[in-house]
Amino acid sequence: MDIKNKVAVITGGASGLGEATVRRFAGIGAKIAIFDMNEERGSAIAKELGTDVIFHKVDVADEESVQAAIDATVATFGAIHICCNYAGLGNAIKTVGKDGAFPLDAFKFVINVNLIGTFNVLRLAAEVMSKQDPVTEDGGRGVIINTASVAAYEGQMGQAAYSASKGGVIGMTLPIARDLAQLGIRVNTIVPGLIHTPLFDSAPKKVVESLSATVLNPKRLGRPDEIAHLAQYIVENDYTNGECIRMDGGIRMQPR
Ligand SMILES: NC(=O)c1ccc[n+]([C@@H]2O[C@H](COP(=O)([O-])OP(=O)(O)OC[C@H]3O[C@@H](n4cnc5c(N)ncnc54)[C@H](O)[C@@H]3O)[C@@H](O)[C@H]2O)c1
Repeated sequence: MDIKNKVAVITGGASGLGEATVRRFAGIGAKIAIFDMNEERGSAIAKELGTDVIFHKVDVADEESVQAAIDATVATFGAIHICCNYAGLGNAIKTVGKDGAFPLDAFKFVINVNLIGTFNVLRLAAEVMSKQDPVTEDGGRGVIINTASVAAYEGQMGQAAYSASKGGVIGMTLPIARDLAQLGIRVNTIVPGLIHTPLFDSAPKKVVESLSATVLNPKRLGRPDEIAHLAQYIVENDYTNGECIRMDGGIRMQPR
């Protein structure tokens, strides 16, 4: 699917990997709706990039908030062809630690944003896509891209909730691709390794250096635009479907 003149919803678009994808897709000529909790950053990026980029303050885990933003996006741009789900977060808590057992609310919070939030946005975006005319020669109506993490496969100590949430995203990728196949909607998941997003800006140089040394090749953290480039590839290559693609410099995470 050509990205130019298509409409993309990008959750988590106010920072990191989502922001890089907003910038790359905007550069190709897409119309973009950023769905994010961070109103200050999200509106600033939309303002900077011009009228083809709009911002909606959205909690991806909240049904009404997402439905309202989906409706507003269709009202502004008339369609949704691409849905990139980057909104996500994590915590670092051991199953049993110094303060006792992992608080269940903290576990549920991460699952709610990363897994249920991803499903919530994609189901409502897919509903819109399903009613539109095809835009590719294969009858393609839409492309959905989710974001997992290598922690889904090699979760480290303290990552029970985060790894479970991302494992869930990987697990639902194929069944959703199957559910939506007849509607002409492709579904894939990007599985990033260690990418230099704002998360690492506050980390001491030494920490970044030692993490970089654990990457197989090249020995550095990934760049957000390398993930955005993969998102572009997934949209543009109509034969990519039902897949989870690692982009991680060959890293295999150790227990800690
Ligand atoms: N950076 C990495 O190394 C890395 C590695 C593997 C996976 N990931 C995943 O990639 C995605 C993006 O990560 P990032 O590093 O760009 O993070 P980031 O913190 O820079 O950006 C995440 C964005 O999501 C938004 N967000 C959080 N909760 C939200 C909610 N409930 N509703 C709407 N927006 C919400 C935040 O406001 C923020 O703008 C996440 O899902 C993360 O788990 C990142």
